[in-house]
Amino acid sequence: MQDSDLEKIKNEANEEINNAGNQAELLFVRKKYLDNDGILGQFFKSLSQLPKERRGRTGMIANEVKKNLAAALEKKSEILAEVAVVSASDDFFDPTLPGICPKIGHLHPFTLLEREIAEIFGTMGFEIMESREIETEWYNFDALNVPKDHPARDAFDTLFLEDGSCLRPHTSPGQVRYMENHQPPLRIIVPGRCFRRDAVDASHMPNFYQVEGLMVDEDVSVANFKAVIDEFFKRFFNRSEGGAAEHIDNIRLRPSFFPFTEPSFEVDLRCVNCAGKGCSACKGTGWMEVMGAGMVHPCVLKNSGVDPDLWRGFAFGVGLDRLAMIKYKINDIRLFYGGDQRFLNQF
Ligand code: PHE
Repeated sequence: MQDSDLEKIKNEANEEINNAGNQAELLFVRKKYLDNDGILGQFFKSLSQLPKERRGRTGMIANEVKKNLAAALEKKSEILAEVAVVSASDDFFDPTLPGICPKIGHLHPFTLLEREIAEIFGTMGFEIMESREIETEWYNFDALNVPKDHPARDAFDTLFLEDGSCLRPHTSPGQVRYMENHQPPLRIIVPGRCFRRDAVDASHMPNFYQVEGLMVDEDVSVANFKAVIDEFFKRFFNRSEGGAAEHIDNIRLRPSFFPFTEPSFEVDLRCVNCAGKGCSACKGTGWMEVMGAGMVHPCVLKNSGVDPDLWRGFAFGVGLDRLAMIKYKINDIRLFYGGDQRFLNQF
């Protein structure tokens, strides 16, 4: 037995400790070298066969090796324990944990309201028509009885495109486009985006939404209009039968002017905030202006290919943005266009 044998054992043991990939392998190495009948154990037993003068020194070295190996085994064991914790947290799957919910978007409040409006009018027999956002001057103005030099054109702050067409400033051209292809009797609503050269403030956007309405039949009168619109607002603002506001007038008509209707009127809605007593929302009047309307002008019918001697109808245009502001009591239109999740998530 040589001292160099001890050096060899030490090196081999260290290498095996290094290579141990887990605690089981490490335990195997520990046993192989440090057990009583392990390699070092055997070595200690064989010490007695050495000549006396060598025994002390070799014994000391062997003890040193044993201590070193024990320390190396301990250290490696700690390292393996740490690795085990990390890899456990990597692989560990707890099926009882709640899942990761994907973020699901939802419809914009305008879309929701547009659908609600379509639903209400749908139950009254109105079809939904989608018209185009880029219009020609003919559909936008001329066909609607607004001739080229008529001052009424100025009221629509139209955005013109280079080729002479324009972004529709109202949904009324949809009336003409529909009647060109459909003979009465007809009932439609035309919801859609409109554009005007308006400066942005709390109640104006250059991009906004309207819902056009049109009903043409043999004998349509203002009374029909009142009935339909009254019913619409009652349902839209939940003033249905038996509600608190049922006994009072829900809407009122005021004379107005639009080239495409005759007679024309503004429709006011009984203030949803104060039910008519007068408050800041209705500027003390008890009423809120909500839509323009009237009986379709015979010229518009004629321009659309409908015989004004046989058919009559009413039309209206209501601002979806305005209805949304009233319904949800929002005092700044810009909130609807801002994309702020804290605002939008409330709908
Ligand atoms: N188009 C009109 C506007 O935008 C509203 C309206 C529609 C008026 C239909 C009468 C009839 O102001």
